[in-house]
Amino acid sequence: MRTYLVTGGAGFIGSNFVHYMFRKYGDDIRIINVDALTYAGNLENLKAVEARDNYTFVKADIRDKEAIEKIFAENDVDVVVHFAAESHVDRSIRNPEVFVETNVIGTAVMLNAAKAAWENEDGSYKAGKKFLHVSTDEVYGSLSDPKDYFYETTPYDPHSPYSASKASADLLVKAYVDTYHFPANITNCSNNYGPYQFPEKLIPLVINNALSGKKLPVYGDGKNVRDWLYVDDHCKGIDMVIEGGKQGEKYNIGGHNERENIQIIKTIISTLKDILPDDDPRKANVSEDLITFVEDRKGHDRRYAIAPDKISKELGWLPDTKFEDGIRLTVKWYLDNMDWMENVTSGDYQAYYRKMYEA
Ligand code: NAD
Ligand code: DAU
Repeated sequence: MRTYLVTGGAGFIGSNFVHYMFRKYGDDIRIINVDALTYAGNLENLKAVEARDNYTFVKADIRDKEAIEKIFAENDVDVVVHFAAESHVDRSIRNPEVFVETNVIGTAVMLNAAKAAWENEDGSYKAGKKFLHVSTDEVYGSLSDPKDYFYETTPYDPHSPYSASKASADLLVKAYVDTYHFPANITNCSNNYGPYQFPEKLIPLVINNALSGKKLPVYGDGKNVRDWLYVDDHCKGIDMVIEGGKQGEKYNIGGHNERENIQIIKTIISTLKDILPDDDPRKANVSEDLITFVEDRKGHDRRYAIAPDKISKELGWLPDTKFEDGIRLTVKWYLDNMDWMENVTSGDYQAYYRKMYEA
């Protein structure tokens, strides 16, 4: 049975990945989820899998060398799927240090521990091992020519402390491939959306604020473009790269779905109005009047757009979910899971975990 060590599995994409893998492989795989449970990690996302015999949660920080080495010593890990990171650009502008510590140092700890566990005495590696480093399109910087796209060959040009830390981590992975022939792949994905996304990010923030009649803050002129992908399609791409990605290669993942932020916000408003029943008192709150233009994000990248040609041609990846369907599914998920939203916004779950793990 193949054992996956998933870092950051209690976060947005990590928890969706755990669900995706159990839906696809059931009892044929084992998953060890290693997460420090920062503000962004939430075990509630994984309630549906926590009783499985082939799922284990370990609360550990990827910066903690001893804790990570212990996990490798106690388990024959086949695949590392490395999601754990500080992920929010706005937070990185306010407090860059933790982004360097987690995203760069934490990745170095993971690489060293996996290399030590997997390497044979002659420098080759045990069969079937792979380190999948989950990264972002933000490492490529910002596009100005509307006909331009990010390719795997696009030079790195990160602007925010977040993207600089992810770019550094990518380069470390590349260095391990080039120097030690370390069995790794990197995936660089565009903006994800879907269930379990922390409401500091645009889509869940707009859903949550609109329902309670709070302002919808639009940075700058609202015309910055992001390339949105339903989270399950990202998970599918990661699984395909684990299965078929060529040694040391990187793969861009994105579904050619570029939208201006203002379009996204207006789509959420109209979807909410469409889905909410007339007798729901929150419906009256939902209005474009809530849209409020605010000061721009510092260093705000103008446009991201992924060319997914390589993963499509080499591995046959294509997205399954059209944006119109994905955004409806997403809005509906948040409406059906308002308790989840209230918990994460109130910080109750943080206090609960602190208590639980202090004991
Ligand atoms: P998230 O912030 O929702 O989740 C991050 C998870 O990592 C949380 O569970 C958190 O507790 C955990 N974590 C943070 N620091 C840790 C540490 N020091 N040790 C152990 N665990 C720690 O992030 P996300 O949006 O799910 O992103 C996951 C990964 O995917 C990140 O590497 C991010 O750069 C990348 N990515 C995200 C997107 C996106 O649109 N969200 C797109 C492309 C790539
Ligand atoms: O492109 C992939 C990246 O997408 C990931 O690597 C990051 O981890 C993820 O957070 C996301 O980064 P963004 O900065 O693009 O996502 P965010 O949801 O924070 O913002 C999306 C766009 O919306 C961006 O142009 C900023 C804008 N925005 C955001 C917020 C939170 C607003 O206009 N108002 C807001 O309140």
